Amino acid sequence: MQMRKPGNSGLEVSAIGLGCMGLSFGYGPATEKSEGIKLIRSAFDQGVTFFDTAECYGPFVNEELVGEALVPFRDQVVIATKFGFQDGDSTKPLDCRPERIRAVAEASLKRLKTDRIDLFYQHRVDPGVPVEDVAGTVRDLIQEGKVKHFGMSEASAQSIRRAHAVQPVAVLQSEYSLWWREPEQKVLPTLEELGIGFVPFSPLGKGFLTGAIDATTAFDKTDFRNVVPRFSEENRKANAGLVDVLGKIATDRDATRAQIALAWLLAQKPWIVPIPGTTKLHRLNENVGAAAIDLSADDLAAIEVALHQITVVGERYPAHMQQRIDR
Ligand SMILES: NC(=O)c1ccc[n+]([C@@H]2O[C@H](COP(=O)([O-])OP(=O)(O)OC[C@H]3O[C@@H](n4cnc5c(N)ncnc54)[C@H](OP(=O)(O)O)[C@@H]3O)[C@@H](O)[C@H]2O)c1
Repeated sequence: MQMRKPGNSGLEVSAIGLGCMGLSFGYGPATEKSEGIKLIRSAFDQGVTFFDTAECYGPFVNEELVGEALVPFRDQVVIATKFGFQDGDSTKPLDCRPERIRAVAEASLKRLKTDRIDLFYQHRVDPGVPVEDVAGTVRDLIQEGKVKHFGMSEASAQSIRRAHAVQPVAVLQSEYSLWWREPEQKVLPTLEELGIGFVPFSPLGKGFLTGAIDATTAFDKTDFRNVVPRFSEENRKANAGLVDVLGKIATDRDATRAQIALAWLLAQKPWIVPIPGTTKLHRLNENVGAAAIDLSADDLAAIEVALHQITVVGERYPAHMQQRIDR
């Protein structure tokens, strides 16, 4: 697989990474550990060198899974993890106090079975702690060799600038896909200006863009999508037009919808690296295949025209989580 440099921090990773969250958290029951390890190692065998986890995925068990799976290739991969929630529990308030960040770093290093975190993200901006203090704490961890790069997630352009002035932000990770393009307004221009890379999460629209989900899909009772307004039965029905459009483009290109959704992201900027998540080997293979698809200017224009005829409905987070983004 081709490599990409997300920003000018020196990071270099495979053009498509692997989001590991769903193996333990968010989308129904966790995958059995040996199966999760097999999937992560298969990703590496297919050229993936960028793996995404977080303290709060599980919590804790996803970091353990990723750490164990990557031990044999540790020096050939980039491991990204995140801090930010009280007790590592994403249902609790944020806690980005310097002492808490330090404690998470130590615990994450142990769980990941490593001596350095390649990319350490602030998961959400904490209104109780100035981003300058967060950036300063990560700067200290970098000086101590425990962390290699600083990242932020779902931060506003203004917070990115403030943090970047204290410790250069290597990468921003926020939602971006064919059905959530808001980062194009302010965030992407800011990243381009500052030389910061961009890692779109939920690049497949949490599965919706692939066509595998429709209005009749019943999610497991523990699946986060049950409380996401965009995934209400009514909104899934209303957003089906987008899946149809993607299907037509995919057929024309002899590709799948998932591949077109990922290739579209790759075509936006050379410093973008999407991290699709899957628990299934055949889908991993399909998603990795998107790196070989080069959408032409005509393809991109056709997608643009088609998207203009569609209005996506439904918020992408429930109200209490919506407050935590774009701070
Ligand atoms: N920073 C943040 O706040 C944040 C938030 C959310 C996610 N993330 C990160 O971003 C990663 C990716 O995001 P995501 O998992 O939310 O969403 P995603 O990658 O857009 O979609 C994942 C969903 O799509 C399904 N899927 C994957 N490939 C498919 C294919 N080829 N065909 C059909 N269905 C497919 C998966 O189901 P199967 O498992 O059944 O294949 C899963 O339910 C996460 O793993 C996590 O590391 C970060």
